[in-house]
Amino acid sequence: MTANRQIVLAQLPGGDHLGTQHFRLNQAMTAAPGEGEVLLKILYVSLDAANRAWMQGATYRSAIEAGDVMAGGALAEVVESKAAHLAPGDLVFADTGWQEYAVLPAKRLAKIPRIEPLTHLLSVYGVAGLTAYFGLLECGQPKAGETVVVSAAAGSVGSLVGQIAKIKGCRTVGIAGGEAKCKLLVEQLGFDAAVDYKSQNVRKALREAAPNGVDVYFDNVGGDILEAALFNMNTHGRIACCGAVSQYDGAAPPHGPRGVPGLIVTKRLNLRGFIVNDFDDQQEQALKDLQAWVADGSLKVPEDVLEGLESLPAALVGLLAGENVGKRMVKVA
Ligand SMILES: NC(=O)c1ccc[n+]([C@@H]2O[C@H](COP(=O)([O-])OP(=O)(O)OC[C@H]3O[C@@H](n4cnc5c(N)ncnc54)[C@H](OP(=O)(O)O)[C@@H]3O)[C@@H](O)[C@H]2O)c1
Repeated sequence: MTANRQIVLAQLPGGDHLGTQHFRLNQAMTAAPGEGEVLLKILYVSLDAANRAWMQGATYRSAIEAGDVMAGGALAEVVESKAAHLAPGDLVFADTGWQEYAVLPAKRLAKIPRIEPLTHLLSVYGVAGLTAYFGLLECGQPKAGETVVVSAAAGSVGSLVGQIAKIKGCRTVGIAGGEAKCKLLVEQLGFDAAVDYKSQNVRKALREAAPNGVDVYFDNVGGDILEAALFNMNTHGRIACCGAVSQYDGAAPPHGPRGVPGLIVTKRLNLRGFIVNDFDDQQEQALKDLQAWVADGSLKVPEDVLEGLESLPAALVGLLAGENVGKRMVKVA
């Protein structure tokens, strides 16, 4: 038995904003792994906007219920293995939940290469990087010279989307909250322009930032920002529907974006929703490209690493409030 501290979702937030009061710390004991299982030591927990969406009900995964160890993906190290394909010291990315140790069936776990810094395995070589890569290149189909707009642009997925669009020769516009984030996008990450959705009229500001119209919109947020993008799309534009973070936390919005479906019809838009795992069979090439861009300096990897298991609840609440720049994670061990 291994002593194990866990963060439990004590209460579902319902239509309220998520707060640290919805969580509690739990002391537990974790049993040794059985046949076909592994004991994992969690190194870094990934903070994802989707963690909040999972509290709203079942989606591409089952809903989180009150009393559950909070769900979440993590980079973890195998401590003890009763499975032939994994050995102590191997690294895996797994849905371990927010705890120090987890015992999981090894069947669906794959060893991942130990690339330094390890944090990159959660950011650019993890879900965020692959989501940016496939969402933009497969769903958005950008061509050199076109204009690409991305929302939540200073976040983990968005910051990579904008830079990959730039690598592909596109004009790149980011939408983010606040002057500091907008400045960072342009001055440090090479975006051509940025729109501050907290202080500007997004529809009008986008028209100025994308004078030739928008060919590809990578949507991380939904709601009013999707509406503003719809009005600025060019005929035959593509929208990669990645997420809807504006609608994960708090009460449901009073109405959906205007222009649906009218603008989709008249502009012949192609909206495509995706989940990163849809492209698992193309991961090898994606990781090769991402590694090459990081190595030659064309892709910067903003990361936001916090410390300690007990900081997880505040880290997620803060992510939803826009505290983070780049990939937020918590170092647990
Ligand atoms: N389809 C997939 O397979 C897949 C995989 C991974 C992630 N995703 C999606 O990707 C998006 C980004 O998620 P992430 O986990 O990487 O988080 P993130 O972008 O690192 O952080 C979330 C950001 O969202 C912004 N935000 C919060 N509330 C907002 C609002 N009301 N309106 C506009 N922006 C708001 C905040 O930045 P500001 O300061 O700019 O507000 C915050 O920093 C999410 O929609 C997520 O569901 C999808």
